[in-house]
Amino acid sequence: MFNFNYYNPTNILFGKRQLSKLKNLIPDDAKVLITYGGGSVIKNGVLQKVKTVLAAASCEVLEFGGIEPNPKFETLMKAVDIVRAENVDFLLAVGGGSVMDGTKFIALAAGSDTFKGEEEKILSFGFAPVPVTSAIPLGTVVTLPATGSEMNMGAVVSRGEDKLPVMSPLTFPKFSILDPELTFSLPKTQVANGVVDTFVHVLEQYMTYPAEGRFQDRTAEGILQTLVEIGKKTVDDPTDYDARANLVWCATTALCGIVGAGVPQDWSTHMIGHEMTALFGVDHAKTLAVVTPAMWRVRREQKKDKLLQYADRVWNISDGSDDEKIDAAIEKTEEFFHSIGIKTRLSDHNIDESGIERIIQGLEKHGMTKLSEHGDITLDISREILRTAL
Ligand code: NZQ
Ligand code: ZN
Repeated sequence: MFNFNYYNPTNILFGKRQLSKLKNLIPDDAKVLITYGGGSVIKNGVLQKVKTVLAAASCEVLEFGGIEPNPKFETLMKAVDIVRAENVDFLLAVGGGSVMDGTKFIALAAGSDTFKGEEEKILSFGFAPVPVTSAIPLGTVVTLPATGSEMNMGAVVSRGEDKLPVMSPLTFPKFSILDPELTFSLPKTQVANGVVDTFVHVLEQYMTYPAEGRFQDRTAEGILQTLVEIGKKTVDDPTDYDARANLVWCATTALCGIVGAGVPQDWSTHMIGHEMTALFGVDHAKTLAVVTPAMWRVRREQKKDKLLQYADRVWNISDGSDDEKIDAAIEKTEEFFHSIGIKTRLSDHNIDESGIERIIQGLEKHGMTKLSEHGDITLDISREILRTAL
């Protein structure tokens, strides 16, 4: 196992009616900006519930709606202006990954003068922490279980054809309220996205090479098996509380840092997927379902030991040669994605050879030329992976 430093300060409030605790979590005299997306929280009543709870506290409340999926820099800057003009001192994100991520950017941009007037530079640090020493504190009320943004320090912000990571320990939410019932109004396709995003977050921290991270491996396999057990159930029956509760907690724990501590990681699938979203507007999770099986087909030698472990422990595959077991594990994974309505081919999203070339150009532009746990996925290998997914 590698050395690691695990830090996670987010206070999690999980379960039915936890929203009522909101008023104890925000300082009494705070000026709060509630941030939300395109209106789902108005339709399903979550925004009103949040406002009702906050009305019982003595804090002043403002609102900023319209943060779009794959949140745009330009939209977020409008909120930054409000935070500055109104001296907002607490941000409350009510929504899915895009609202939470967007709010993290707002927290960084408005919380210090370091990048005032040149906030686009906040998007230039990749996976290194943004060099600021203060940020506006934020909390979240999660309405879509998928990204894990509610308990991590990462965000992804879009600017033109760029989809860029933003990292800072200052953007760990102070608290996150995870009431599975607040997610019941999600359309099936978004729930399925949440299952796949969570599944692949675990895989990116697992499908590498054995590193004696036994707890991490067993935890990863536990999350994967839980998703296989409840994935279809929670897509088909949105009001099955226990199935949804398991998805919500899996989504959070998949990317709160515990699975990936002390073990090798490979975020290649996400990096290729981000280019697909930026260029073709394919939902984040749907890109991952396309890239994952192709990645394994091309990288079966480098990932052989873990693919066999995955075949055995997640899918109970015990018959056949090593190659047959790996093939069966890849097929089982694809079948699982299909069973919840998620497609696994580029052609399902109308992306052809010329589209692949645009994705490769995007990877090159963003310096993604040495991907994987070994740093050996060149642009040519990324092209081969994408061709395998056609
Ligand atoms: O915008 P509204 O009207 O709220 O509708 C949203 C949106 O259209 C809707 N929705 C959310 N909660 C709902 C609901 N509809 C009905 N009922 C509810 N309870 O769902 C749609 C998608 O929302 P979005 O937030 O975009 O989805 P998701 O949570 O999948 O977030 C995707 C974003 O997160 C980034 C992705 O790249 C993408 O930009 N990621 C963030 C990560 C992180 N911070 O750690 C890691 C991930 O790998 C990912 O890259
Ligand atoms: Zn993801």
